[in-house]
Amino acid sequence: MPIPSTEAPELLATPSELRSWSARCHAAGLSVGMVPTMGALHAGHRALIERAVADNDRVVVTIFVSPAQFGPREDFARYPRTLDADLSLLGDVGVHAAFVPSVEAMYPPGLVTRLDISGPLGERLEGASRPGHFNGVALVVTKLLVAGLPDRAYFGQKDAQQCAVVRRLARDLDTGVEIVVCPTVRDTDGLAISSRNLYLSPEERMRALAIPSGLAEAMAQFDAGERHSSALATTVRSCLENKGLDVDYVAVVKADTFSEVETAAPTNQIVLAARIGNTRLIDVVRLGVDTAPVGRGV
Ligand code: PAF
Repeated sequence: MPIPSTEAPELLATPSELRSWSARCHAAGLSVGMVPTMGALHAGHRALIERAVADNDRVVVTIFVSPAQFGPREDFARYPRTLDADLSLLGDVGVHAAFVPSVEAMYPPGLVTRLDISGPLGERLEGASRPGHFNGVALVVTKLLVAGLPDRAYFGQKDAQQCAVVRRLARDLDTGVEIVVCPTVRDTDGLAISSRNLYLSPEERMRALAIPSGLAEAMAQFDAGERHSSALATTVRSCLENKGLDVDYVAVVKADTFSEVETAAPTNQIVLAARIGNTRLIDVVRLGVDTAPVGRGV
């Protein structure tokens, strides 16, 4: 296992600085791992970063809240920004470089290039609720991969549709980058850890436990033999609605295409999005793969 660095990470501010850093690593025969983030780093990011540090000789974490993936009425302006704390965590975990570009450095004036994630993968579920979101994610992730040329890039399973989009684009564009998807990290009560949990009041945080609770109930139903996706989705939906959550969608999908299935099978995923007050949360479980999130019976 590579020895983690004990120094503060090298700060890189432009795509060309990132490219030079990566080229130097590769010229020295060192493998490069990249963890793309929007900052506000939490235990979920930490798990991705630790995995990247274990797998690679050098690791760069990117911290960039990309306006391209936020809709006009979304939380771009209020998205939490905690750069000092983030950089201190990166030092603790032994990350070698932090790429922290400005919006201008990433999106030069006059930019006209767009990426379009078409079909159910880009247009259904998260794609339908957040029009243009995955095109924005695809653009920024492609720019990061092209500039950083990592051997591997790390993403969290909680953003399941994003993971499928990124896997697809890495293959479609022949990036040669291995996309590594790491398990969702949950708080002890079962709620998936997310930067957006910071928006929840204590009362909303309690009600949010309907999410792991509903998913756990549907998983138990699946384990007991239920195969109708509609029955599994209804279980989750009822659980969320009983606690006053405003359900955006609950669906059972294939992991790679995000097309919905009528008959649920192992490796299919139950995905959901719901609002609690002004906060929109998403979650996912993989049937027959994940252990049920704790928090049942809340
Ligand atoms: O998951 C995120 O934090 C973002 O969508 C990503 C992958 C860093 C792209 O901005």
